[in-house]
Amino acid sequence: RPRVLSGIQPTADSFHLGNYLGAVRQWVALQETHETFYCVVDLHAITVEHDPKLLRKRTRGSAAQLLALGIDPERATLFVQSHVPEHAQLGWVMQCLTGFGEASRMTQFKDKSAKQAQDRITLGLFGYPSLQAADILCYQANHVPVGEDQRQHLELTRDLAQRFNSRFGRTFTLPEPYILKDAAKIYDLQDPGAKMSKSASSPGGIVELLDDPKVSAKKIRSAVTDTEREIVYDPERKPGVSNLLAILSAFTGRTAAELQADYVGKGYGDLKKDVAEALVEFVTPVQARVKSYLDDPAELDKILSRGAERAREVASRTLARTYDKLGLLAPA
Ligand code: TYM
Repeated sequence: RPRVLSGIQPTADSFHLGNYLGAVRQWVALQETHETFYCVVDLHAITVEHDPKLLRKRTRGSAAQLLALGIDPERATLFVQSHVPEHAQLGWVMQCLTGFGEASRMTQFKDKSAKQAQDRITLGLFGYPSLQAADILCYQANHVPVGEDQRQHLELTRDLAQRFNSRFGRTFTLPEPYILKDAAKIYDLQDPGAKMSKSASSPGGIVELLDDPKVSAKKIRSAVTDTEREIVYDPERKPGVSNLLAILSAFTGRTAAELQADYVGKGYGDLKKDVAEALVEFVTPVQARVKSYLDDPAELDKILSRGAERAREVASRTLARTYDKLGLLAPA
């Protein structure tokens, strides 16, 4: 079966709607057809200043959310990145292949470093995409389900894999991004020109899965639309309305075109009400499941340690082959 790897950062207490619709929903679906590896990327989370206590809590919280959203630890390998040291080890190798100019052109790095004093921008943040490449290449992944904002990092991953293969001999599979068009980018409810984002969105613009469903419903009802009346899917001209249609489409499994037909003669209020209802219906049982996973941290930790063990089997083989190709002397 083809392989899939993806990761999510434990940098907030709750995933937001963009994380779920853009990425995790596809992670769940791919378990049926692929051999899947999913990790909570805690080493990526320390590339910016962080609170150790919160990081530990959010790492468990992220794993609990993934399970509650439908990741099945019997079928998928679910683990914490730092439990598999091969990621950091292959990450170093990838850093040694990454050009300074190439890393400087990464837009996520440019965004995250823009408002920082020079000495606060760490080498870790600069090398972030090289570690991400290692995450993927450790497993020889064929597909990487992510949102649109990760496309550039996946291109870098392919470039690094290709570079290694051509210098040292065929070693890595070139991964393909797996980015679904309709939910690849969920927008900020208050600023539909910008993506919904843990770090950049205002509280009114971001829907957190673990928030009180009533609060989330209210945020949807207050979403910015436009001064017209018709409900049509046209992201260029009507970004706010199109974002709501994209969200509803993801929850109902119906296309934006089908939904559009339902709303002929209806108003924005009707659409918002339906989106809010679909959201509440979705998050309510998810929240209950998250709570039950967090109530049993020993069981959660057991799932994660089994996952790490399985992941290491694959990652250690890749790392050994890589070190050998590089000419690193194997210990006797
Ligand atoms: P992160 O933690 O920021 O986000 C997790 C996933 O959510 C997607 N996403 C969105 N999708 C649609 N609309 C949005 N508004 C939105 N916001 C976030 C992201 O594209 C991502 O798929 N660098 C990665 C983490 C990572 C990784 C990896 C991913 C580390 N190693 C290896 C894939 C493979 C990141 O910051 O994701």
